Amino acid sequence: MSSVIEAAIQGFLGPIIDYLQDASVSEILINGPSEIFIEKKGKLEKTDTQFLDEDALQAAVKNIAQSVGRRINQNEPTLDARLPDGSRIHAVFPPCSRVGTVVSIRKFMQQKISFPDYIKWGSISLEAAQFLDVCMFLGKNILVSGGTGSGKTTLLSLLSSRIPKGQRVILIEDASELTLDYDHVVKFETRLPDQEGKGEVKMRDLLKSSLRLRPDRIIVGEVRGSEAIELINAMNTGHNGCLGTIHANSPADSLVRLETLAMSAEGKISEVAIRQQIASAIQIVVQISRFHDGLRRVTHISEVCGLNLDKTYNVIDIFKSLVNGDNLSVCGNAPSFITEIEASKIPFGRDKFSKAS
Ligand SMILES: Nc1ncnc2c1ncn2[C@@H]1O[C@H](COP(=O)(O)OP(=O)(O)OP(=O)(O)O)[C@@H](O)[C@H]1O
Ligand SMILES: [Mg+2]
Repeated sequence: MSSVIEAAIQGFLGPIIDYLQDASVSEILINGPSEIFIEKKGKLEKTDTQFLDEDALQAAVKNIAQSVGRRINQNEPTLDARLPDGSRIHAVFPPCSRVGTVVSIRKFMQQKISFPDYIKWGSISLEAAQFLDVCMFLGKNILVSGGTGSGKTTLLSLLSSRIPKGQRVILIEDASELTLDYDHVVKFETRLPDQEGKGEVKMRDLLKSSLRLRPDRIIVGEVRGSEAIELINAMNTGHNGCLGTIHANSPADSLVRLETLAMSAEGKISEVAIRQQIASAIQIVVQISRFHDGLRRVTHISEVCGLNLDKTYNVIDIFKSLVNGDNLSVCGNAPSFITEIEASKIPFGRDKFSKAS
């Protein structure tokens, strides 16, 4: 029994116990004691459940924080924590929050997702899934790009499940979230500074360490800070098959975002130099978006083909969907590594990329 449920049984989370136990509820959003929303199949619904009052809600949140060794109080009014069952919780206490304590709980999806599920839901087309599988097999460096809650981590986990057997995978995350069904995984998690501001271990530190630990594949849960420069360096020094997610709205934007993160870590390097490094480091960007119907769909699978003459990124779409997310299909461009695909005798030849096929 998870500690969330245990706490609920103790009465702290009584008002939301049903939603915590209901597998069809993916998120619980609490906006003060008397307003609770849930997300089901990607759609938000307002519930008629309430906490007794603000004190009861704060007691529940403090109890959760305590159960995972974190704090939330007037001096440290935000909480970011991963519960033992994998659910993710973020909370903000008033007065920073103007409506009373605000909490979001993203429940851990018990169900293991596979490409067939993803295809069945309409999140990707069969051919696009096969192409991503080819990229994973060939060890291409892949960036998963998307907005908040667009399904980046879910897709990253799905891609990771396609790593060929017999490799050593190093996974680095801010807060442990990914579950990898793989037999040789080394997991790292960052550490927050203590009350005196000491002892912090950043993603960048862990990435540096991981390079000395004989990785075959490095997976970075979310690239959002100075680790960007280390990741780019790793990719450019022969570490193939690296994966990561990034917060951006298009494949081209994801590269610009990576550039901004890398520049902020390494001020001395010129913009053109960093662009050149990014353009040769990242091979594939998979863009995912959340649509009004709640479904997350892959909208682009693009290849990064160096820089244009004007030093902008040359991003070529291999697969692209319609604006409404439907019909993810080839754009008529074969990837630059088509000869590698053919040489590997993978049954995904040149004809698969022509529009007529
Ligand atoms: N293809 C999909 N179709 C429908 N729901 C999905 C799909 N992929 C993920 N979800 C659900 O969407 C929610 C967000 O997924 P996920 O955590 O992967 O997004 P994210 O982009 O990593 O979010 P964040 O920006 O907060 O890191 C989860 O509840 C997940 O179960
Ligand atoms: Mg995520």
